[in-house]
Amino acid sequence: MPLRPPAGLDGVVAAETMLSHVDGAAGRLIVRGHDLETLAGMPFEAVLALLWAGLLPGSPDATAIRAALGPARLRAFDLMLPRLAATDGLSPVEGLRLLLGALGDAEAEPHAVLAVAAVPVFIAGLTRRRAGQTPIAPDPARGLADDFLAMLRGAPAGAEAVAALETYLVTVADHGLNASTFAARVIASTEAGLFSAVIGALSALKGPLHGGAPGPVLDMLDAIGTEAAIGPWIDDALRRGERLMGFGHRIYRVRDPRADVLKGAVSRLRGAGNRIGFAETVEREALARLAAAKPLRPLDTNVEFYTALLLEALDLPRDLFTCIFAMGRMAGWTAHVLEQERSGRLIRPQSRYVGPMPAAPVQGAA
Ligand code: ACO
Repeated sequence: MPLRPPAGLDGVVAAETMLSHVDGAAGRLIVRGHDLETLAGMPFEAVLALLWAGLLPGSPDATAIRAALGPARLRAFDLMLPRLAATDGLSPVEGLRLLLGALGDAEAEPHAVLAVAAVPVFIAGLTRRRAGQTPIAPDPARGLADDFLAMLRGAPAGAEAVAALETYLVTVADHGLNASTFAARVIASTEAGLFSAVIGALSALKGPLHGGAPGPVLDMLDAIGTEAAIGPWIDDALRRGERLMGFGHRIYRVRDPRADVLKGAVSRLRGAGNRIGFAETVEREALARLAAAKPLRPLDTNVEFYTALLLEALDLPRDLFTCIFAMGRMAGWTAHVLEQERSGRLIRPQSRYVGPMPAAPVQGAA
């Protein structure tokens, strides 16, 4: 009989990967041999080139990937239009999941390219529809982050906003065997295909313990409201046993390195000033109170805290945050799926049965 598994598979190594390494003790994220901090100034397409190297035929460089993503966005737009009405009444992440279902296994484009290209098109399309606006066709000449903001807003975004969004996408592109990536790898191991794997990954991402947290971070800041209310509000929340959104992590026992990269990016955006100052005070007070409340469990700031502030400073609606996380993480999901498909081994662990056994063996059973 298998041994009792650690709850949540804590500490279990379930895959070998060349893609990224999360060092939870040192607070370090390495993607294909590069520290996160050195990737943070790169275009998203350059990080895709890194992640897909040796996994996509021909190992295209950033320029070739940018050139391939443009037509793929146009293809995604065509696939989206007849299905957009079906997203009415759904949350954005549910709408995105539905639209990803339009990507059929028979598509001619490399599936990883089409999946990455489709997410910004689908998010912009369903957001405009919800606002009663006509979807805007992609401009294949633009970079992915730039084109997303243009399709969403109906006008080109400034260089400062594009750079900030790009930093965000790069920062969240891959992160070891997180829950959604693990889900993608399990599905890929059945040979169900890349699109099925990334739809499963998105479904895992959507939960508040994973990619659903940044919207609630802003809800928390709004609920706190004033500097004077910070301490009492946090004390009450912890007394009720609630979790403070944007804090804690399964792997990091120190500060999540992505938090500082994103804090730097949001600090460079004009107009984010007051909110950042308030958020920093909340963060300081929260960390002090978490340390007192949970002395045995180091709890520090995670990626979602400054994600929330960055995406808010970009004027992006908070109910889109999980979808925008998926836009960046699609890079990692697709790379992991390609890597898993190469391994060719079905992921099929065992469970430990703890239910009742029949009173007596079935007659004639061996
Ligand atoms: N606020 C208050 N207490 C917390 C928090 C928090 N944010 N996070 C963990 N704890 C407490 C738990 O209540 C638990 O206390 P207990 O031992 O007295 O019961 C203890 O710390 C250990 O918590 P676990 O549940 O073992 O931690 P786990 O590794 O399962 O959780 C998680 C990690 C889910 C991220 C958790 O810290 C959390 O819920 N954070 C808030 C939500 C959030 O920010 N999610 C985004 C994560 S980042 C990402 O996925 C991209």
